[in-house]
Amino acid sequence: MESFARRSDSAASSAEFGTSIHFDIFTLFPEMFEGPFSESIIKRARDQGLISLACHNIRDYTTDRHHVCDDTPYGGGGGMVMKPQPIFRAVETVLTRPPGWALPRADAYVNLPPWDGDAAPTPPLDVPVILMTPQGRPLTQSVVEELSGLSRMALICGRYEGVDERVRTQLATDEISLGDYVLSGGELAAMVLVDAVTRLVPGALGFELSAHLDSHSAGLDGLLEGPQYTRPQTFRGEAAPPVLLSGHHGNVERWRREQALLRTLARRPEILEDLPLTEADRAFLCEQGGEMRNEE
Ligand code: ADE
Repeated sequence: MESFARRSDSAASSAEFGTSIHFDIFTLFPEMFEGPFSESIIKRARDQGLISLACHNIRDYTTDRHHVCDDTPYGGGGGMVMKPQPIFRAVETVLTRPPGWALPRADAYVNLPPWDGDAAPTPPLDVPVILMTPQGRPLTQSVVEELSGLSRMALICGRYEGVDERVRTQLATDEISLGDYVLSGGELAAMVLVDAVTRLVPGALGFELSAHLDSHSAGLDGLLEGPQYTRPQTFRGEAAPPVLLSGHHGNVERWRREQALLRTLARRPEILEDLPLTEADRAFLCEQGGEMRNEE
């Protein structure tokens, strides 16, 4: 794991390839990221230098004998709360250094860079510090698009019952939630965010238009994507729609738009209410009347 968590080569590859985005992830469980960040599109984007990642173990920034990162909540109650100091120390140490910097393995606990717990250093203002929490703003495709325009961001993964409130009030500049449910920690949410943002980095997908026309994307005006078919032409008695084999580009485009409208109407009708639909879209939906809930 350590070569992954402390990729000293990431700075070199970013210089070589012109990395677009660097993610600094702060977690108590850096090993959790190994598999998802070493496969498929994220692996390729890393290999090509389009993104770089560093997973920083918050525990490395503790200085007490037992490397304690949590404590009982003031006022009592169950569970444990993540202490502020190791998180502040980790984030402020890393973000006041160039992207790609990570604490050398041998320096964990024992040879930390100096840090004044009472005085806030000034991490770069253009690097958001995002706390992953079920109380944050929902991660939507438009949030993903917004984040894909940044060159660096920090993600803090909370655990236990939560993090000390001072992390929210003084360190985090944004809070993002994966959805209205509670995970065991922010790590899975951070992985999802990194994956969704990476897909939008130019060059990360083999075929550039595919991200642009994904469900919820601006290229599809926020609609759900319609059905897709590939060979064989007929499978278990169900044939691919003939229009897709017609070679008539205009008809294919119109069919796809209509299918996206139908699918959105059937599955997520509330999305349609907020969209600036064209006259042709409206006319098509009107034609379908109220019978379109099962898309066919
Ligand atoms: N941590 C725990 N639950 C979460 C959620 N739903 N989103 C982001 N981070 C979380």
